[in-house]
Amino acid sequence: MSNPPTDDRPTAIPDDEVLSPERIADPHPYFAALRTHDPVHWNEQYRAWFIHRYDHVLDALRDDRFSSERIRPAYDRLTEEQRAQRQPTYDVLMDWLVFRDPPDHTRLRRLVSRAFTPRAVEAWRARVVEVVDELIDGLATRSGFDLIEDFAYPIPAVVIAEMMGVPADDRDRFKDWSDDVMILVFGARGVGDRRARAQQGLIELAAYLGELVDHYRRRPADNIISNLVEATEGDDALADPEIVANCVLFLFGGHETTTNLIGNGMRVLLGHPDQLARLRAEPGLIKPAVEEILRFDGPSKMEVRTLVDAVEMGDKTLPAGDMVYLVQHAANRDPEVFAEPDRFDITREPNHHIGFGFGLHFCLGASVARLEGTIALDALVRRLPNLELGPEPEVWVPTMLSRGLEHLPVSLT
Ligand code: HEM
Repeated sequence: MSNPPTDDRPTAIPDDEVLSPERIADPHPYFAALRTHDPVHWNEQYRAWFIHRYDHVLDALRDDRFSSERIRPAYDRLTEEQRAQRQPTYDVLMDWLVFRDPPDHTRLRRLVSRAFTPRAVEAWRARVVEVVDELIDGLATRSGFDLIEDFAYPIPAVVIAEMMGVPADDRDRFKDWSDDVMILVFGARGVGDRRARAQQGLIELAAYLGELVDHYRRRPADNIISNLVEATEGDDALADPEIVANCVLFLFGGHETTTNLIGNGMRVLLGHPDQLARLRAEPGLIKPAVEEILRFDGPSKMEVRTLVDAVEMGDKTLPAGDMVYLVQHAANRDPEVFAEPDRFDITREPNHHIGFGFGLHFCLGASVARLEGTIALDALVRRLPNLELGPEPEVWVPTMLSRGLEHLPVSLT
């Protein structure tokens, strides 16, 4: 005899653990079940709403009742003791444009986007090709390597550091600092006392960037920090702490996510030999292939908002004050929008995925990520035709908002 159900939910609705080992390894069946059976889902374990349909996610991203302002309210809720402990983290995070609503967001976005014009980004093409080619030169003679550690990680790390004007000698320190910021922002599981150490990394990083701001104010150069120092709107300009905070955001946003685009992308291609063969035969398909990777298994699993007002969505009323996760992975496989959504098709057209978000907060670094992603994957596919997955198993990072691999062992047969 089977056990009685422990609650009254339809059995098709899975339990609420988003971060089980199985769902970290492959979250898509879980999100698909919810999209079908309870698309606007109250998750009791995380005490938040999870939104799974494409049209709902887009509605939310267009609706100013879904606020991005979640650092200040969290700070307001802290006790005096917690504030004393966490002040340096909050000082930086409160100025990130991704955590601000209009009008503050509008002002920051206008000033900051000066550093990301299409011309400024395209100017980095030759340097990205060089970085990628040098790495592949070193890997081509080996019998195997870790595609994350040895390839996908260093590319964005080098590129974003150089774009910002960070001297080459200081690059290695950025790996540790970036890992620290990742823990503070993404809240990886089981980190416990890591939080205190992570904050120390952030303090060091902010102090270091402050010195760079001073340096480039005295000696302007062609880089992001100089652009931010010089950016003005009428008589408005960015204050130094705003420049430092948003540079931390670029380092962080430009780093792990792009690593994950390359890592997830190569894994998906190797897992779909027909699509890989097609790309080898027609290298011109690299651009739509990268878009399909962003749709099919992109680096951003979900975005977070807080409700400043009650909202009706589907058959539910979401009360003011509740937290909402907009699940991009579920929206990007919504059969109402994408034909055969679980099929990986590098020629998919149209492909209006929301892997970079949508609306006011649409990823500011999308063109940087696309530049690096296309160059890196194109070079891997062309120059290492004998690349295979394994023999060691892949290892995923167990985080809520992002999807990425810690290790992707590959062999050259
Ligand atoms: C494949 C790589 C990347 C992915 C998947 C990605 C994804 C995203 C997403 C989903 C958002 C919206 C967040 C929200 O609405 O709450 C976002 C915002 C942002 N991203 Fe990216 N990103 C990537 C690469 C980059 C790079 C390379 C940079 C910088 C060099 C960057 C900088 C930013 C910034 C500054 C924002 C905030 C924009 C705003 O709030 O107005 N990202 N990104």
